[in-house]
Formats: sequence, C-alpha cells, structure tokens
Amino acid sequence: MNIRSPIVSVLGHVDHGKTTLLDYIRGSTIASREAGGITQHIGATEIPIETISDICGPLIDKLSIADTIPGLFFIDTPGHAAFTSLRKRGGALADLAILIVDINEGFKPQTLEALNILKMYKTPFIVATNKVDKLFGWDSIENASFTESFKSQAPSVQQDLEMKVYEVVGRLHEAGFQSERFDRVSDFASQIAIVPISAKTGEGVIELITMLLGLAQKYLTSQLAIHKDAPAKGTVLEVKEEVGLGTTIDAIIYDGVLKTNDEIALMVPGDVITTKIRSILKPRPLNEIRDSKNKFEKIDQVTAAAGVKIAAPHLDNVISGSPLQVLNDKEDVKEQILKEIDDVTIDTEDRGVLVKADTLGSLEAIVSLLTDLKVPIRSADIGDVSKRDVINGQIASEENDEDGVIFAFNVSVHPQVREDLEESDVKLFEGEVIYQLTEDYSIWIKEKKEAERKAYLDAIIKPGKIFSIPKLIFRQSKPAICGIEVLSGTIKPGYPLINANGHPVGKIASMEDNGESLQFISRGQKVAMAIDNAIAGKDFEEGDELYIDIPENHYKVLNREFKDKLSEDELQTLDEFVEIKRRNDPDWGKLGLFE
Ligand code: GTP
Ligand code: MG
Repeated sequence: MNIRSPIVSVLGHVDHGKTTLLDYIRGSTIASREAGGITQHIGATEIPIETISDICGPLIDKLSIADTIPGLFFIDTPGHAAFTSLRKRGGALADLAILIVDINEGFKPQTLEALNILKMYKTPFIVATNKVDKLFGWDSIENASFTESFKSQAPSVQQDLEMKVYEVVGRLHEAGFQSERFDRVSDFASQIAIVPISAKTGEGVIELITMLLGLAQKYLTSQLAIHKDAPAKGTVLEVKEEVGLGTTIDAIIYDGVLKTNDEIALMVPGDVITTKIRSILKPRPLNEIRDSKNKFEKIDQVTAAAGVKIAAPHLDNVISGSPLQVLNDKEDVKEQILKEIDDVTIDTEDRGVLVKADTLGSLEAIVSLLTDLKVPIRSADIGDVSKRDVINGQIASEENDEDGVIFAFNVSVHPQVREDLEESDVKLFEGEVIYQLTEDYSIWIKEKKEAERKAYLDAIIKPGKIFSIPKLIFRQSKPAICGIEVLSGTIKPGYPLINANGHPVGKIASMEDNGESLQFISRGQKVAMAIDNAIAGKDFEEGDELYIDIPENHYKVLNREFKDKLSEDELQTLDEFVEIKRRNDPDWGKLGLFE
C-alpha cells in the first residue's frame, strides 16, 4: 500500500492569478512567459512535501497527513472562456481544488463555470481571493501569513477586505455553497474556506496550503491509497518530438503504477493504438511539465499522481488529450477508449471554415470560440496545415468566399504549403494565442463586409445635375456632343439623363477634357459630353439643366441607407429630381406597404 500525492487543480477566471500562484509556490516565472499572457494548455507540477513544509513552517506540524503524502500534485488550467473542456479535464482529474477569484473583480463567468465543474465532480475546494496587495491602501508584507499581514493594515483597508470577502460569500451562497473566511470557519464539512492571498507577494499562501492539507486529511486519506499492482490510468497532455528520444508524450498519471515495458493504449484520430513503453522520464520536482526541457530523470516506474514523459514506438499520431491506460486482462481497455473517441468528435457542418490545432483541448477551445461567433465549421483536425487543407479551403472559398479560411492554432505551415496558400484564395489565420486568431478573423470579416457595402453603394446612381453651356453644341446626334458644366453631384458615363420636364434625354456615353477621357466629373467641372440616344435641339436645348435619372429602386436604397452621405447641394438636387418625377407619378419612390 502506497499513499500518492493528492491532485490539486487550480481553477478560475482568466487572469485571476492561477499560474502566478503556482509560480510563487514553485519559485518559477512561467506566467510571465506564456504566449498572450494566458494559459492555453494544462500544466502539471509536483511539489514535494519538504517544499510545502518550508513554506508553511510549524503550521502543518499538527497535520498527520503531512507525514504520509509525498507532496501535492498541482494542475494549472486555462481560465480563458474557450477552454471549457480543459477546465473540465482539469476538474475531473482533481482530488481537491483551489478556486481563484480576483478580490477586486469578484465573480466572473469562468468562476461560475469552475464552480459548476467542482459541484459536478463533488470536489472539495478552497476559495482563494487573490491580489489583496492591490486593495487600495494595502501595505504588503512579503511572504507573510494572511493573519500577520491583515493585522498590520489600516482599519479602513481591513474593512474593505471584509466587504469584498463578504461579496464572495454572497456569490457562493447564490451558487449553493456556505462559506466563511477561513479563520472563522466552524465546520469544514459544511463551509467552504475563503483564504485572502496575494500570489505576487505570497501573503496568505501559508494558510491556503495549510487549509488544503487539512482538506486532504479530512477527505482523502483512503482515496489516496494505491495498490502497487494497479495498472496506470492517465491523460496525455502533449505529443512532442525530443532529440534522442523521437516522438514522446507528456502525460499525467492519476491512478495506479506505470512501469517500463508496460503495454499502453492511446487514442489516434478515429482509432486506438497500443504500444510498449521504452522509457519513462520524470521532471525533477518543482518543474512544470510544460516548461521542463532537460530537467528530466529516467525512472523504471512511477506511482500516481505524477506528470511523466513517455518514450515508445508509434506515438506520432497520438492525440493530445487522449486517455492513457495500461492494458490488463480484466478490462477491455481498447473498447473503453473507443467509446471516449465518440465523445470528443467535433460536430462539423457541410459548409464553413477549416480548423487545425495542436491538441484536442486547443481544438475544442477554438471550435467553441468559433461556434460562439456563429462561424460554421467544415472540418476540425489535429495536425499541421497540409496541402490537402489548402485544396479544401479553395473549394470552400469557391462555394462561399467567407468560408475560404483556415485557422491554424499552435501548428506549423510547411513553406511549400505556404506557397500554395499564396496562390489560392484561402485566407490563413495563424498564431499561438487563441483570442488573437478570432479577433483577427472578426476584423477581416468586418473589412470584407465594409468593402462589399462600399461596392454596393458605389453602384447606386446618385443625384446630379448638369448644364448645357450655350453655343457649345458640337454635334446634333449619334451621339450628341456638347459642352456641359456640372452643377451638382458626381457624374459618370452610363448614367441616364432627363430634362426639367421629366423627359428622357438619352444616356451619357463619355466625357472628355483636353482630349482626355474621364471616368467621373464633379461640381464645377466643364467638359465635352457625348450623349447616346439624344438629339440636341429636340430632346434638349442649349442652356437646359439636365438631371441624372435615378432609377426608382436606386432611389429607395439611397433614401434608406445613404442620405446622410450626400452633400447639401446633392440633397437639394435630389429634392428637385423627386419633384419632377412626382409631377408624372405622385407615388414615385414612395415605399410600398411591405418594403
Ligand atoms: P489564465 O491562465 O490565462 O487563466 O490566467 P491566470 O489565472 O493564470 O493569471 P496569471 O497568473 O497569468 O496572472 C495574470 C496577471 O495578474 C499577471 O500579470 C500577474 O502578474 C497578475 N497577478 C496575478 N496574481 C497577482 C497578485 O496577487 N497581485 C498582483 N498585483 N498581480 C497579480
Ligand atoms: Mg494561467
């Protein structure tokens, strides 16, 4: 019989300080090095009991569990909204949890989501109200206990903290939990302890960890017992290429014992493979598995809970997020894992964008963000962007140009594939920060819609008026050519004309000035104009004012969506024009009942 380390998941809203708390406990600086400043993968660190004793000092001497457990195994989870499935995975793995709440921000959507996960799995937890050092007027004492630090604060600051803690008590009450500040908890079985802390200065961390060990002692002692021959169960965090080892997997072993030469089952796209473990490597204590690099040591076997790197043949296509299980005679492990594959298959539609990501968790996260944005998804896969993806993207773009999009989250694009992309109509959004990808996409869609709208409005014929300058009729007809001046608006070839009585005066064929053909002319310009289907002296006279003949449906669009963009004199011309039209047809341009 062995006692394993309790698994402690740290959950909470984005930026409330989960990674910083673990950094404080480990003495590391991971939070400041994360892409985009957010956690996007599950992290895992083993903290030996000696380190915990060093932090807590005599406070934990009373706890017998401190002599039996080897340490605490912390799991860091992402707080960003998109990572629900990783939070769930982190929550499901946990024996205990710390729910972090920024004391200045209070409860946020992912705080509630985390609470629901804890409720669902009935995980005992502690609430840490973090960032007390940012309370107005707070005077920090580095590494102090909360009790000591609180005592030295001004009464108004103490009051402020009390108020904020009570807000948290209120929110927890709404969620169905009784709670109290930790030093006032009378019954740990029915009340959740709230520990005010600063992950930055370390204030309160002593009490937080002591409370955690208290919970472990109360609830877990039997749950932490491990039979030496129980086959290991775990979760794959990441699949990585390592020099000298080939493809390896990083995994959390949450149950049983894992040994070299064990046969394990793992998930690959659409199937389950089995392979034999060649070697097991363990990060040195206090090293986060995501960050460990060379700080591993080779071991023959490992007992849960632990984070390990595993080298074995055939790991290339293993999916991050896959379950890991040692084969045994009693259970049909493969069948169990196949069932789980069904659960993680991502729903796709007939049309939509393509998504590529590095791990199951990140794929689920980006799919969930896109679904919230109502972006249809045609396919969602794990792996680098391939030639095939570009071909599929091109097909998508030909069907609907908004669908010709590939999201590449944390994956690479081969230079050859990049060349293919450049020659295609496919738009690539790539990066390693999830919200950046969808933000860039939203900006792209917005610009695209604006360009479409501009093209649509450009095609609308707008008001204009010209004046046929006396003595400047150069040709009677076919086409009529005369000198004109623009009195208002912008005039383009192709526009039809009418005179002040509403009679049609042909269509503008071309406009010229000093032998140069013009595509548009505006107010004040004098040019030679050729007019098709009009006879000078019959359809119009020199000295006449002619109006652009706006089609009725164009006028309606203009009136509805574009009026604020017209100038004073264009509006005046529009009024004159409408009056001319309504002399013949009083309802011209008026909206029908159903428009
Ligand atoms: P996600 O993993 O993205 O959900 O965020 P997180 O909860 O891990 O937050 P993280 O530890 O990355 O901290 C976010 C920011 O808050 C960083 O700039 C930290 O330096 C800062 N921060 C965290 N804890 C404290 C604290 O106790 N006091 C102060 N002043 N800043 C803190
Ligand atoms: Mg984090």
